[in-house]
Amino acid sequence: MTAPAPSSAPSPALAIRPFEAGDEPAVVALWQACGLVRPWNDPHKDIARKLTEQPELFLVGTLAGEVAATAMVGFDGHRGWVYYLAVAPGRQRLSLGRRLMQQAEQLLTARGCPKINLMVRSTNSGVIEFYRKLGYAADDAVPLGKRLIPDL
Ligand SMILES: CC(C)(COP(=O)(O)OP(=O)(O)OC[C@H]1O[C@@H](n2cnc3c(N)ncnc32)[C@H](O)[C@@H]1OP(=O)(O)O)[C@@H](O)C(=O)NCCC(=O)NCCS
Repeated sequence: MTAPAPSSAPSPALAIRPFEAGDEPAVVALWQACGLVRPWNDPHKDIARKLTEQPELFLVGTLAGEVAATAMVGFDGHRGWVYYLAVAPGRQRLSLGRRLMQQAEQLLTARGCPKINLMVRSTNSGVIEFYRKLGYAADDAVPLGKRLIPDL
């Protein structure tokens, strides 16, 4: 008997692996397309710094070999952090972001990380809703920061 057709198109097959040196132009282009590059953060310097600390947690998702998604994950011994979560604009709403975050959570859990922290701009209601659907909730804390090394 033939199985019934699925009610919606299946999600594309995302392969997730650590960042490789040749990925840099495509990764930076993806971050620019996703609006994640800020004037005060040089993305090339951000990549170089990440490659000195837990480079195996710098995740790249590919579709048919092409870079389609990223997540820069880290564990500082107390909390896990996720930066540069990005899915190519033409590939959003296909569960790729969810899959990348599931992989990040599995890798952090395997290291004994008890909690993930991440920061989303309060005006970015769509991304907040994405994280809410993945089980994340706002903490009662004010994010503070201090720049130690200017990029520009
Ligand atoms: C945020 C982002 C990574 C989400 O990736 P995605 O692959 O589109 O998300 P998914 O398809 O896995 O969505 C998972 C769930 O969140 C929902 N969702 C995703 N984006 C949403 C949005 N903008 N508004 C409301 N809900 C959203 C989906 O509908 C889905 O819900 P469901 O469980 O009911 O099906 C992607 O939109 C992106 O790259 N945005 C630009 C970069 C960015 O802002 N990154 C975050 C930096 S903090």
